[in-house]
Amino acid sequence: MNTLRVALDGPAGAGKSTVAKRVAAALGVAYVDTGAMYRAITWKALQKGIGLHDEAALNEMAHTIHIDFKPQPERQAVFVDGQEVTDAIRTFEVTNNVSAVSAVAGVRDAMVKLQRDIASRTGVLMDGRDIGTVVLPNADVKIWLTASVEARAMRRYQEMLNKGVECDLEQIKADIQRRDEYDASREHSPMVKAEDARVVDTTGMSIEAVIGEIQAICRSAQAQK
Ligand code: DC
Repeated sequence: MNTLRVALDGPAGAGKSTVAKRVAAALGVAYVDTGAMYRAITWKALQKGIGLHDEAALNEMAHTIHIDFKPQPERQAVFVDGQEVTDAIRTFEVTNNVSAVSAVAGVRDAMVKLQRDIASRTGVLMDGRDIGTVVLPNADVKIWLTASVEARAMRRYQEMLNKGVECDLEQIKADIQRRDEYDASREHSPMVKAEDARVVDTTGMSIEAVIGEIQAICRSAQAQK
């Protein structure tokens, strides 16, 4: 079994999840979408009417929630306490509230523990914001995937249009900028590039080219392992 551990971090909309899924499958390691875990907690908090600034309640929930990933041909399905939430965690409501929930220290502690547990059992490619800095500081490969805010907003816009969701490009750009600022300035594990991460700027690159580049970086790390 491949025991390679890859940390793929970067801001929203840089193409992390698409790239991560494909590269993880090619390498034969598990794919863990850590953003989906913070989204799952946010979804459950909204369902239960828990205040998004009620740290005690969020902390308690993060320590008892059951989050499962099930790989499917075209996507990875996400379940919360047995209920499928794959699409429910991608709504604007969840997206606009997830930064606040992921800033709560107790929530992060619980998720980091789960993420490290997974990585202790299997080779992984984990995508997130703090994988190379906090979750897996000794990862075999660390990549910081980024792109201009315009390119990231355009990708999200196209994604929504493809799903038939009406949206406004300028609004998406403003939301991405706001989320970047919030994620980068929070007190606990702010989104920051690990010093030893390789930067891959995907502005103007095709998805195939990005996948090729990341795969090459991972294969070379694997050869040296
Ligand atoms: O990658 P995403 O858009 O699904 O992430 C959702 C939110 O979760 C994002 O605003 C930042 C946060 N997040 C985080 O704080 N730490 C991670 N490891 C992954 C995501």
